[in-house]
Amino acid sequence: MTDALPPTGTPGTPAIVWITNPDNYDPRRHLLLQKEGSKRVDLFERNGLPVRVVHSGDLVPAWSGGAPRLYLDEEDLLGGGHAFLLSDWTWDAGIGRHVQAITRTIRAAGRVLLNDGIRDAESLGSDKLAMCHEVAALGIPVPPTIAVPFGRYARRVLPVVGRELGTGPYVVKPRAMAMGFGVLKAEGPEQLTAAVDLLTPAALGAVVQPFQENDGDVRVYVHRGKTVAVMLRSPKEGSYLANVSEGGSGMSFDGDGEVRALSERLATGVDADYLCVDWLLTREGPVFNEWMTVSAAYEDLPEPDRSRVAAALVSYVRDRIAAGS
Ligand SMILES: Nc1ncnc2c1ncn2[C@@H]1O[C@H](COP(=O)(O)OP(=O)(O)O)[C@@H](O)[C@H]1O
Ligand SMILES: [Mg+2]
Repeated sequence: MTDALPPTGTPGTPAIVWITNPDNYDPRRHLLLQKEGSKRVDLFERNGLPVRVVHSGDLVPAWSGGAPRLYLDEEDLLGGGHAFLLSDWTWDAGIGRHVQAITRTIRAAGRVLLNDGIRDAESLGSDKLAMCHEVAALGIPVPPTIAVPFGRYARRVLPVVGRELGTGPYVVKPRAMAMGFGVLKAEGPEQLTAAVDLLTPAALGAVVQPFQENDGDVRVYVHRGKTVAVMLRSPKEGSYLANVSEGGSGMSFDGDGEVRALSERLATGVDADYLCVDWLLTREGPVFNEWMTVSAAYEDLPEPDRSRVAAALVSYVRDRIAAGS
């Protein structure tokens, strides 16, 4: 799912306020991505969940007049009985800091916040290192994942990588991004060093993993502890990114019992009613790659899986709104 929609909606009616970060995208790409985002809005609206799209840059979070406030011009969005949907990943440090202020303000007001966070709305949902810690604690296989320090300390990661991961190849990728953004395969220490030097000034925050030879990515959609669909995504010939947004292709995958069982165990272990879990199919078996919740794309699934996942997503959102948390 992308968050590149133009602002919409009627003030006043309780809605899902979808806070978007269109500044993540090239304006030209943005136009294409709007179609995808609109499908998600249509799904919610068809199911009686009105959506109001708001640009994060238009919001001013505050504590004022004895309450948390989230101002859109003169309107306080926290005063309207809304639930909130917020993608917290961005390559821009300034947007990231602002999204954090928005997140904390919505939390302080006790509103339903449907972002990718599981227990910790701040970052756990999209932080790949944090995910590995959580998942490994449940005894599920995760790749070694090493975070790159900031600024002039960044190269301190290199001896640790040499010691723990050997001579490569490696994958260097942002610690918390999506859609294949900045995921780089480095063949050896020399390319890794250059990658670290290049990514450091942007202050994006990155992790290094071993490049794991694989037969594709499997995404498992789990709702209320049970698998509702499984999708295999394979990179294009000669490529290494399986993201459909980067040219990977999605197809159904006749349930590998192991990924289903692992995904169900994980969803239960992190207490998530709706969780989409990505696995890399390696020779040693499935290895955890990442999880997502409401933002995971399912639109590429064939029927009847697509409708099953859509129904699970709508029912999850309804349950959260009904529970008020
Ligand atoms: N350690 C790895 N080894 C091999 N391929 C990887 C590795 N990490 C990521 N990839 C490939 O890159 C793709 C994008 O990486 P991912 O971590 O899922 O980032 P994003 O959040 O941008 O989707 C994955 O779907 C997979 O195809
Ligand atoms: Mg991914």
